[in-house]
Amino acid sequence: MFLSKSKIQTQKLATEFSKVVLKETICSQKTIVIALSGELGSGKTAFVQGFIKALGVKSHIPSPTFVIYRKYKIKDKDYFVYHFDLYRIQKSKEIVDLGFKKIINPLAGKSRNIVLIEWPEKIKKILPKNTVWIDFKHGENEKERIINIL
Ligand SMILES: Nc1ncnc2c1ncn2[C@@H]1O[C@H](COP(=O)(O)OP(=O)(O)OP(=O)(O)O)[C@@H](O)[C@H]1O
Ligand SMILES: [Mg+2]
Repeated sequence: MFLSKSKIQTQKLATEFSKVVLKETICSQKTIVIALSGELGSGKTAFVQGFIKALGVKSHIPSPTFVIYRKYKIKDKDYFVYHFDLYRIQKSKEIVDLGFKKIINPLAGKSRNIVLIEWPEKIKKILPKNTVWIDFKHGENEKERIINIL
């Protein structure tokens, strides 16, 4: 469990975590899916921004709510990081139609991906079994967040 007392602290945690995930992606040669669950405003996007910036992405990282997902190239690597926000989708079929299965399971020899998903409960049945779950909760005061990497 991690108790964050500011957005900056949440992003620092994300930076540390992203280094571990990138190493794991390189070692395992597999795509890693990270599901971020938690209520509105609990810090999921803040975490994702810290995570993606730490992978050397310079561009602004907006909340992708209106586009469902955004794709960023990881610096100096043939890897991509995807940021999904499924708040607006109703059924997992909408995501399957966007080519989700190829993203989480790219063909052998092709690039590996890191896939971060906000509101992952909506597609729980099509998520890989080894998905890493991170749970976000509001704490006792306005700036506290309780973050659990499961
Ligand atoms: N400790 C903290 N960690 C992260 N964000 C914090 C913290 N304290 C305050 N905040 C504020 O809470 C808000 C978190 O918003 P954010 O968009 O990251 O939430 P979210 O979980 O992605 O919400 P949504 O479900 O709407 O996508 C931001 O405005 C941020 O500045
Ligand atoms: Mg968000």
